[in-house]
Amino acid sequence: MFEEFSGKFYYLLHPRPTVVVGSLCPNNRANFMPASWNTPVSEEPPTVAVVVDPQAYTKECLDFCGEATLNILELGDVQLVYDLGSVSGRDIDKVLKFKLELVESTTVKPPGIARSLAILESKVIGKYPVGEAYLYIFEVTKARVREGVADRFGFLFNEGVNILLHASGRYFYGVGSRRLALKKSV
Ligand SMILES: Cc1cc2nc3c(=O)[nH]c(=O)nc-3n(C[C@H](O)[C@H](O)[C@H](O)COP(=O)(O)O)c2cc1C
Repeated sequence: MFEEFSGKFYYLLHPRPTVVVGSLCPNNRANFMPASWNTPVSEEPPTVAVVVDPQAYTKECLDFCGEATLNILELGDVQLVYDLGSVSGRDIDKVLKFKLELVESTTVKPPGIARSLAILESKVIGKYPVGEAYLYIFEVTKARVREGVADRFGFLFNEGVNILLHASGRYFYGVGSRRLALKKSV
């Protein structure tokens, strides 16, 4: 009936919404790194956890500035997001390289990416080593959305808005048609 999965276990937990973590770095640059291992954690305070590889320059930048923007980009930005995750801010200025237009944040120092659908401004409130990685806990200080892309229930997927779900490697999905479960089916 079941067989052992031959891929990496976490592929079975994908696709996952991808955020692009924006930070300010010791080299005085803003830097942006996609992270698909992220999840909301609590409502009070509003927190999001993001897994950061210690090799990523973003780890150094988060430890340096203690703040971030979590940028949610459109499905159409798949190449940009993949590219941002294929090079390190330690080696190049990603803002210049990818001609990123930035937008000032209202509650934190790191800027956001202007073309984002939404930006969560956030402050680092915890950091935990887990295996080879670090789990960063961010408190969301402000959640902003681009005008017209969301109502209070979230993004308007039925109206052409779509986000990036990372499957594995270079594969991504968008969100498909909405299904409504019955309030009570039994
Ligand atoms: C779609 C996508 C999702 C990724 N998710 C994560 C993640 O959750 N955590 C992580 O540490 N790296 C993740 N990566 C890898 C980093 O984005 C990549 O190592 C990046 O180049 C680090 O940039 P930096 O050195 O400028 O911080 C992901 C890459 C891609 C393309």
